[in-house]
Amino acid sequence: MEISGSIKDTREMVKAWKAKGLKVALVPTMGYLHEGHKSLIDRARTENDKVVVSIFVNPMQFGPGEDLDSYPRDLDRDAAICEKGGVDLIFHPEVEEMYGPDFCAYVDMHTLPEKLCGASRPVHFRGVQTVVSKLFHIIPADRAYFGQKDAQQLAIIRRMVIDLDFDIEIIGCPIIREEDGLAKSSRNTYLSGEERKQAVILNQSLEEAMKAIDAGETDAGKVKDIITKTIESCPLAKIDYVEVVSFDTIQPVEKVEGPVLIAIAVYIGTTRLIDNRILNA
Ligand code: PAF
Repeated sequence: MEISGSIKDTREMVKAWKAKGLKVALVPTMGYLHEGHKSLIDRARTENDKVVVSIFVNPMQFGPGEDLDSYPRDLDRDAAICEKGGVDLIFHPEVEEMYGPDFCAYVDMHTLPEKLCGASRPVHFRGVQTVVSKLFHIIPADRAYFGQKDAQQLAIIRRMVIDLDFDIEIIGCPIIREEDGLAKSSRNTYLSGEERKQAVILNQSLEEAMKAIDAGETDAGKVKDIITKTIESCPLAKIDYVEVVSFDTIQPVEKVEGPVLIAIAVYIGTTRLIDNRILNA
């Protein structure tokens, strides 16, 4: 396995594979890899000849006062996970390699990034769109793998690839959970013992919603009420948002029908966690 911090060398390596007719996968990450990332790597490994994992904590997608400085980083641990997972190349650039001194180009989008996480994190998706576009140019892969936990991110990237004609297939992969149902996330490491116990409320609230939907509930307002009441029963939880939207457009829907995303963001103490269910997609 190679580790490269250079855009030029990385691009050359990937182009050489492509010239031999090999299928190349990209798994974009910010590192501190967990079972969720591992499942993306495993799927990429089975569906392609070469697997590239990018590890880059992208400053552009963090707003002022967010956790850029404290975001967990451990390249040695990540490299060991990648090596074991059969990864061929880690792209791990410095910030200066990605954003030169006169950097001033951004990828902007309307509608999809405006609600849910975009409403509480105004610069976040512009940073994601820009860095993912750069990664797609640096690593001309055939397929890129993203987790469905960041469902809005997945919807945005799918749209961006269509609208800007990127020649890459976007694969969404299921959420990986802890035994008690908490979605795996690098940010789970911020939780204290008691917070970790109470964090299960995110998944439990979505389970309650799914029970109601399975029993025939289609009113999005009622589904949101069920989730809100469940979360409010938890002393350490504070809701950022509970939304039922179209998974294609990320606009609110009144009825739970067609491709629908039920998305929540909840503070457990000071840690903001997200979770979701995607229906009929
Ligand atoms: O999902 C993430 O880890 C990041 O948003 C991504 C896609 C790697 C872009 O920095």
